Amino acid sequence: MTVINNVLKLDGAIVSVILSNHSSQEIDGKGLTLLPALIDPHVHFRVPGDEHKENWLSASQACIESGITTVIDMPNNRPSCTTFEDLLLKHKLIQNQLHSAGIPLRYFLYFGADRRHLGEIAKVKKHAIAIKVFMGSSTGNLLIDDEPSLNEVFRIAADLDMLVSVHAEDENIIRDNKLRYSGCNDPAAHSKIRSRDAAIKAVERAISLAAKYGTRLCILHMSTKEEVALLRQAKLSGVNVHGEVAPHHLFLSTEDYSNWGTKVQVNPPLREPEDQECLWRALNEGTIDFIGTDHAPHTLQEKSLPYGQAPSGIPSVELLLPLLLDACNKGKLNLQTLVKATRTNIEKIFRLPPHDDYVLVDMKAVKTVSDENLKTKCRWSPYSGRHLQGWPNFTIIDQKLFQLKKEKSGSCPQKH
Ligand code: DOR
Ligand code: ZN
Repeated sequence: MTVINNVLKLDGAIVSVILSNHSSQEIDGKGLTLLPALIDPHVHFRVPGDEHKENWLSASQACIESGITTVIDMPNNRPSCTTFEDLLLKHKLIQNQLHSAGIPLRYFLYFGADRRHLGEIAKVKKHAIAIKVFMGSSTGNLLIDDEPSLNEVFRIAADLDMLVSVHAEDENIIRDNKLRYSGCNDPAAHSKIRSRDAAIKAVERAISLAAKYGTRLCILHMSTKEEVALLRQAKLSGVNVHGEVAPHHLFLSTEDYSNWGTKVQVNPPLREPEDQECLWRALNEGTIDFIGTDHAPHTLQEKSLPYGQAPSGIPSVELLLPLLLDACNKGKLNLQTLVKATRTNIEKIFRLPPHDDYVLVDMKAVKTVSDENLKTKCRWSPYSGRHLQGWPNFTIIDQKLFQLKKEKSGSCPQKH
């Protein structure tokens, strides 16, 4: 049994946390706040096919560092996860890697919608948590942009009562813009090529399909204020739709291209500071329901290629909680909203089984993000160099206690 004393709960009570495990230790948790462990419903852990970027050994350690004990992994692997067989093989690979890692990370898998394999969807109902539709192409070769196939996916999903999550960017608009900007090697062009119109048009299309068939819909990584307005309106008119925001759209904007170049190239791309402000408001008022990191690791070498050759994606699973706690300390968010957006809303929307994992955070600790301390395989972050206040000290998963690394420096001394 492990006992952690003097821990502060969100309701203000001071409690002891008791874990029924095989060790026998007593820890003074004075100065620590108890939060429900986080769920990250949007990760790209690269198995199978791209393990040089990430795998479940490195990723599970990175999750624990951020108080994340449940993840939902995306299907744009190599090969893409678009058949029953692909899905079972992927489950096996992940289970083996988690076993080697010794981390009982809870995980669920998205199934990739592919027009050649729409018949597979019914077979995977029990093995996949939801269906992912790439309405615009991104990393990998998943794409459904023709009207008949899109209709078919939304119809099948509604019949099976499965959730559909969309990467909402319009492929035709992106294609036209690519021609317009061909030869342009400025990374900032990315936000013009994958224009806000592309995102808005695709969100409109997805919402109207969800309304038509009664499909449960999630709009992933919302990036513009117009998308937020569409989501708000759709909810008001009774469509069963929810919205996700990614940390890079909250903490980065088009102003960051000058410093970070292709490292902050991501799909959908970074937007304007006023979009950023709108996303924060939508999160705080509950129009946007949850946060997903869209953790999309690529190696430094890959990300150092010139614009046009560099892949899109930003890793962030490991820094999600410090970024959000720092935002709480700055008054941009409160802990109650943090818990809704990283745990309780996700459990409801994805209908996940309950569990009692926790994370213990020190709201006063100040540390500087640095690449060398990262556990993700790619070991770089666009947040490196930031001084963040609020860091997790312990993650509790399935009654097991993980003490987090202590090598970070800071103006406030470590409590443990
Ligand atoms: O920037 C992105 N990277 N957006 C996506 O939709 C996919 C992701 C990846 O897998 O690299
Ligand atoms: Zn993604």
